Amino acid sequence: MNKKELIELLDGALADEWLSYYRYWIGAKVVVGETKESVASELEEMATAELKHAGILVDQIIKMGVTPIINPKDWTKIANCSYEVPKDFSVKAILLQNIKSEQCEIDIYKKLVNFTKHKDTALNEKLLNILDDEIEQKDDLINMLEHLEVKNSE
Ligand SMILES: [Fe+2]
Repeated sequence: MNKKELIELLDGALADEWLSYYRYWIGAKVVVGETKESVASELEEMATAELKHAGILVDQIIKMGVTPIINPKDWTKIANCSYEVPKDFSVKAILLQNIKSEQCEIDIYKKLVNFTKHKDTALNEKLLNILDDEIEQKDDLINMLEHLEVKNSE
């Protein structure tokens, strides 16, 4: 396994987690609409999950003897998923934006899981757990969106 390549992937994912944390966190603050309170509390929970993922990645990078990405200025440079500045603060737009980003993160973790498969079992397991979390988050967001659409059509 190419260590340099693995570190790059982990560092990129770490940047994605920070952007994702902020996207959920700020989304919970700015969201508007009838269901904003319940949506905001879900988004806050998801922000907490992203912060936990960032912690797992950073511990791993340090364990490998490397300094993790240390300057927030670099987050948007090395992240795999682009950070879209929310312009529409409606529940629907915020949910859609997060669904799109979750899909991007799912793709990153699939890549990382494949990369570490049969090479580093402990790390592979950690990454699989994060991947499961991201898939669950995406499903939850889709459910919230569907619920909203049903409600709007009533
Ligand atoms: Fe995450």
